[in-house]
Amino acid sequence: MPKVLIVYYSRTGNTKRMAELIAEGVRREKNVDVEVKPVQETKVEELLNVDGVIIGSPTYYGSMAAEIKKFLDDSVKFHGKLEGKVGGAFSSSANIAGGNETTIMSILQSLLIHGMIIQGSSKGDHYGPVAIGEPDERSKNLCIEYGQRIAKLVLKISS
Ligand SMILES: Cc1cc2nc3c(=O)[nH]c(=O)nc-3n(C[C@H](O)[C@H](O)[C@H](O)COP(=O)(O)O)c2cc1C
Repeated sequence: MPKVLIVYYSRTGNTKRMAELIAEGVRREKNVDVEVKPVQETKVEELLNVDGVIIGSPTYYGSMAAEIKKFLDDSVKFHGKLEGKVGGAFSSSANIAGGNETTIMSILQSLLIHGMIIQGSSKGDHYGPVAIGEPDERSKNLCIEYGQRIAKLVLKISS
C-alpha cells in the first residue's frame, strides 16, 4: 500500500492540528497509508520508504522553522533517491500576509530540488494550505481536501 508521511514542527499546536487534518484527508482515500510525525522524532531515512511527503512549518520570519530546515538539509544524504515521490507543504502563521506562502514555497523549493512531484491547486490555497493561528473552518476544509488530493496523486503515480 502506498504511504504518505506528514512531518511537522509545531511549538504552540497550530501546525500540528493542520497536520492531523491533512492526515484525515489522506485517510479518506482508501488504500493509502499515512503517518504523522513531529520532525524531532523523524529520521531522514524514513523518506526513502514513503511515496509522498508533506512537510508543515509555522511561519518564522517568512520562512520555515530551523528544525524543518535542518531536516531538509540532512536529507541531502539521499539526494537523487527521492526523485518522483510526491511532495507538499503547509504553514501556520499569525497574520494573513505574514509570509505563510513564502514559507510554503521555501519548503517546496527543497522538495523540487529533490526531484519530487508537486501539485498546485486552481482553487483555495494555491501552493498548499495555510492557517492563521488555530485552523478555522476554511483552513480545516482546505487541509482535509489537500490530504485527499495528495493521496489521489500518490495512488495515480504508484499504480
Ligand atoms: C520566531 C517566530 C517568528 C515568527 N514569524 C512570523 C512571521 O513572520 N509572520 C507571521 O505571520 N507569524 C509569525 N510568527 C507566528 C507563528 O507563525 C504562529 O504563531 C504560528 O501559528 C505558530 O505555529 P505553531 O502553533 O504550530 O507553533 C512567528 C513566531 C515565532 C515564534
